[in-house]
Amino acid sequence: MDTTRGYVLFEEDDHKVIWLGWDEDVSSGAIQTNQYLIVNSGKGILLDPGGVHLFSRVVSVVSRFISLDDVESIFFSHQDPDVSSGIALWLGVTNAQVYIHDIWRRFVPHFGLVDQSRITPLNDDGGTIALGSVSLQLVPAHFLHSAANFSLYDPRSRILFSGDIGTAVFPEGKEYPEVDDFDTHTRLMKSFHQRAMGSNRAAARWLETCSRLDVSILAPQHGAMMRGELVKKFYDWFGNLNCGIDFFQSRAGV
Ligand SMILES: [Fe+2]
Ligand SMILES: [Fe+2]
Repeated sequence: MDTTRGYVLFEEDDHKVIWLGWDEDVSSGAIQTNQYLIVNSGKGILLDPGGVHLFSRVVSVVSRFISLDDVESIFFSHQDPDVSSGIALWLGVTNAQVYIHDIWRRFVPHFGLVDQSRITPLNDDGGTIALGSVSLQLVPAHFLHSAANFSLYDPRSRILFSGDIGTAVFPEGKEYPEVDDFDTHTRLMKSFHQRAMGSNRAAARWLETCSRLDVSILAPQHGAMMRGELVKKFYDWFGNLNCGIDFFQSRAGV
């Protein structure tokens, strides 16, 4: 598979969801990331379009699916540089409005000059982002790992864009875009979730919300996508993992 060109995850009528692929040297030096595009009724939203060094490749892949003039929104799950450090470049080539939690509104200008009127701040509850005929649902994911953090659910494709939740850290050269063997894959997810996810209570809140959603694919910002029955397997695995402060307290000598 040519993973540099991305591929369509879902297409029905006027609605399309695209995984935007990877650089050829996907994990040399920088952690591998996934970027996504949703198109509805000819309008687009970019999800966590990524850092500065990815920008030229991601722009060229996006342009294969939609005119940059029709990218009307950019969603940032949180403030990390691998998510949002390309913000000034993206605002320069699109007319998009940026959606990010309110507490990060005055941090992202440090990635470059950013016109505050182009930022729509989100509150803790999240709410929705309209795109054509679809209403994208923001799922609070605070402290997983960022202090102000969201996942995003697309009810048309039933894809849950989980942000850093579901991250796997691949050995260099061993990347794959979708999980096949879940049990083996957990070895690549475990230490990141133990360290980065805030606490078991934070995880339980997110899992409670997500278990009420009908999810076809869990699409994280790092690692590999999980389809079908693997979504429930992930929920069970994450719900039973000691993470964050609970993990640290459980270690001997801490
Ligand atoms: Fe992050
Ligand atoms: Fe990340």
